[in-house]
Amino acid sequence: MGIIEWAMSPLGQNVPIHIAWFLIWVAVIAGILFLVVHAIYIRYFAKEKEFVADASHTIATQLPKRIPRHSLTARLFHWVMAAAMFTLLFTAFLPKVGYQFDWVTYHWIAGVVLSISILFHIIHASFFLDFWSIWPDRADIEDARKRVQRFFGKPAGLPRKFAKYPLENKLYHGAIIVTGLSVMLTGIFMMFRVRTIFFPRNPYLFSDMTWGLMYVLHGLAGVGLITLVITHVYFAVRPEKLPITASMIVGSMSRDFYLKEHDPKRWVVEPSANVQRGMADGD
Ligand code: HEM
Repeated sequence: MGIIEWAMSPLGQNVPIHIAWFLIWVAVIAGILFLVVHAIYIRYFAKEKEFVADASHTIATQLPKRIPRHSLTARLFHWVMAAAMFTLLFTAFLPKVGYQFDWVTYHWIAGVVLSISILFHIIHASFFLDFWSIWPDRADIEDARKRVQRFFGKPAGLPRKFAKYPLENKLYHGAIIVTGLSVMLTGIFMMFRVRTIFFPRNPYLFSDMTWGLMYVLHGLAGVGLITLVITHVYFAVRPEKLPITASMIVGSMSRDFYLKEHDPKRWVVEPSANVQRGMADGD
């Protein structure tokens, strides 16, 4: 049993038509397995996080009580994207696992909403937010090495506290970029295969082979997103992460949480900032 389904084209060529749908269950099980193993590890084995000392205690009193974290625009983008993402996942995969309904129209509409919100996010993040805050830097790599060595019981210094986003979040964001752009770009072309309000249907735009590969890429990235979304929601509801999740609703987090996890030198919050001003230009 392969991971791709094939069919004979009218020209007698063997072409891929889409992924094998059992991959949906592989993705669901992988997501559940990850969260079970992670939860057991945190509950029974993980030690308290330790960081090298920094200037937190000296600047604590100069900081506002609430630290601005996500501007209103960034929060709106996040929740619009989340609604589109869930709609896409359910409309795509429920019919494949036995719940039949007329899904295609809902699917491409949610696809258009996701695509617009992604384009908006790229522009917003490039010109109005701190673009580099979500990309791994040298300190992340050095600290990751220390964390891995310490995990295996080898001697290594303590890592620094995180910048605005820990390395794990940055890597997760990278995976979302790859899968998100893949479904978006293939999905826009696949709209030529169905009736939409944007352009006339044209199933002859590409050869059967090209269409087939496009459907396969759309499907692979799609099932990848099942696993990624499961892990994302899992972390969002973990008790120790709730202040971060709440900040995606209210926009800010407590000073104590900020000082516990973040290095004020790597994620600089202006001492004089008040929450309102910080969120107007914040990210
Ligand atoms: C979470 C994101 C997405 C997932 C999981 C997903 C998944 C899927 C799946 C599994 C199919 C069925 C393909 C097949 O039968 O081989 C499909 C079809 C389709 N998708 Fe997506 N998709 C996503 C995003 C998008 C986006 C962003 C767009 C548009 C911009 C889009 C447009 C389409 C269209 C037009 C079809 C119908 C093709 C047809 O029936 O011929 N999808 N999608």
